[in-house]
Amino acid sequence: MNLRALAAKTLFDVLEKGVSLSVALPEQQKCLANAKDKALLAELCYGVMRTLPQLEKRVSDCLAKPFKGKQRMIHQLLIVGCYQLYFTRIPSHAAISETAEACRQLKFEGMVKVVNGVLRNIQRQQTPLSTDTETLSYNTPAWLIKRLKTAYPENWQHIITQSHERPPMWLRNNRRAQSRADYLSALEAAGIEAHAGPSADAILLDHPKDVATLPRFLEGAASVQDGAAQWAATLLNPQANELVLDACAAPGGKSCHLLELEPSIRLVAVDFDAKRLERVQQNLDRLSLNAELIHGDAANIETWWHGEQFDRILLDAPCSATGVIRRHPDIKWLRKNHDIDELAALQRQILDHCWQWLKPGGTLLYATCSILPQENRDQINAFLARTPNAKLDTLAQQSSPADIGWQITPGQNNMDGFYYARLIKMTD
Ligand SMILES: C[S@@+](CC[C@H](N)C(=O)[O-])C[C@H]1O[C@@H](n2cnc3c(N)ncnc32)[C@H](O)[C@@H]1O
Repeated sequence: MNLRALAAKTLFDVLEKGVSLSVALPEQQKCLANAKDKALLAELCYGVMRTLPQLEKRVSDCLAKPFKGKQRMIHQLLIVGCYQLYFTRIPSHAAISETAEACRQLKFEGMVKVVNGVLRNIQRQQTPLSTDTETLSYNTPAWLIKRLKTAYPENWQHIITQSHERPPMWLRNNRRAQSRADYLSALEAAGIEAHAGPSADAILLDHPKDVATLPRFLEGAASVQDGAAQWAATLLNPQANELVLDACAAPGGKSCHLLELEPSIRLVAVDFDAKRLERVQQNLDRLSLNAELIHGDAANIETWWHGEQFDRILLDAPCSATGVIRRHPDIKWLRKNHDIDELAALQRQILDHCWQWLKPGGTLLYATCSILPQENRDQINAFLARTPNAKLDTLAQQSSPADIGWQITPGQNNMDGFYYARLIKMTD
């Protein structure tokens, strides 16, 4: 099946069935042998997710009536065609003929002429893409624009622009394998330009690379992890022989970092999703690290844990992921406005429960990859108000000591949008 047909199938899975792009895309990439084709398929799908409202508008303007049901596949194919015409350097005759051929391969032979005709019209007319509404000019759903305006009245536009940039690639040096300076030298020797990042193990690559080309990557010399996520282990600051809980651990990036920082801890890594938990084991194996993996609910710890309270807890809570739209642009279309209240309620429940399992004097680090205050500042403010034995520990990284936690916005120091609040359980 040709690449445009695979792109339409991927978009259909994401937009019609609600499958995330990081799951749907690799499924279709399996049908392609060549790395260049896999990369082009990814470029088409990610590009469409970034610019969907404008493409939808352009395509709908050319159709007498919208496609419904199974024929939505043709709609997705037209979107792929339109994306190629506006946003790629693929010659338009090739983009149109390949997309029409995809229509045949997808078994809509009767619609090949329509696809061909619509794309030819779009190419001939050269109409600029519409910016008539805010959703169209920012390629972002109205509910999210509204929430961002309220939360960031001064820089919401900048945040949206940053959320549409192509994200850089960050590595986490494995300090157990070599020093960061040594790994930077190894990268330089391999012709890979890179710089030390702000946290102790972070390395920022000038250009993203296939991990197979990185020195000793498969042996565990480094891991791929955004610069913002790399602050978690440092801020939790595990000490020798402590009992540490990673309450929402999968796929395990932060669990592994905690063990790299302090291998003598006893780490209990829990996740609700058994399939994702398998990835924690794979990551631990690659880095030759050990943790106790538990498939369980962080809001019901007594159902799977009969040991003592924890010295430290990392709660990297399930969230809207609005801070990582630049890496996962499908979030804009899969998340709905009402999800935010539901997520905030779930975060509250997990946070209250984990708190009971923290030793007096212990530390809980609350983290999300969200940029919405409901999941971050407001969540922690409400927690502090109802929890007399909780104290907020100011982080040196916060922009102001008066802030409730540290909110990182997308693109700030090249990092993803992220939030951290460090809480100490006071002894009576
Ligand atoms: C933000 S991700 C965690 C990322 C992870 N800490 C890392 O660095 O690789 C949130 C995780 O929470 C898990 N989760 C959601 N609800 C949960 C619950 N009630 N108990 C445990 N895990 C849960 C999800 O399956 C998901 O893997």
